[in-house]
Amino acid sequence: MKPRKASETLSITTKVVLPNDTNTLGNLFGGELLAWMDLIASVSAHRHCKRVVVTASVNNVSFQKPIAHSSIVTLEAKVSRAFSSSMEVFVDVFVEDPVTGIREMCNEAIYTFVAVDQNGGPIQVPELIPETAEEKVRFEGALRRKQLSLILAGKMKPSEATELKKLFLGEE
Ligand SMILES: CC(C)(COP(=O)(O)OP(=O)(O)OC[C@H]1O[C@@H](n2cnc3c(N)ncnc32)[C@H](O)[C@@H]1OP(=O)(O)O)[C@@H](O)C(=O)NCCC(=O)NCCS
Repeated sequence: MKPRKASETLSITTKVVLPNDTNTLGNLFGGELLAWMDLIASVSAHRHCKRVVVTASVNNVSFQKPIAHSSIVTLEAKVSRAFSSSMEVFVDVFVEDPVTGIREMCNEAIYTFVAVDQNGGPIQVPELIPETAEEKVRFEGALRRKQLSLILAGKMKPSEATELKKLFLGEE
């Protein structure tokens, strides 16, 4: 399978926060933002493997600032690393100042998608090639985050988490 560059998976969408998207304080409802992030992240994962993908986990979601009604919100998703059948995808969320147009980052999330066949079983995906400094940093940290996610899901024993042991215990 031909490896694919991280930049080829970049997926961008821009939304306006409408009344139906808000909570009782008039700010964007967190669940709505999660759905927007899930959708654009799935497009990015699909662009990498060109197969049907399903969400396996959502990690590191941080809602740093409320996003007001009428805000213009841009979501950028990119695959940070591909493993055997799974892909880690970063989603960065920006709000645009209505006067200056300057974008401020307000949210971030890390999703894991798995490519599946017609029976819903995991299938192999191509390798990912990181090129920029940021892509390389995210690529390097992805195995550590995958192991943590698997431990939290009860799918890996902490004693098997080689990357976390290196990080916390200095073990090779
Ligand atoms: C995701 C799914 C296909 C994984 O199937 P599975 O039988 O558990 O398969 P495996 O254990 O072989 O895992 C497949 C890959 O997913 C990864 N994975 C599974 N759970 C994970 C988690 N919680 N965090 C990170 N990675 C995970 C595995 O590490 C493996 O990655 P790799 O092949 O790249 O090494 C299956 O659990 C599923 O269909 N889940 C429902 C998906 C869905 O409906 N999502 C929509 C939200 S409701």
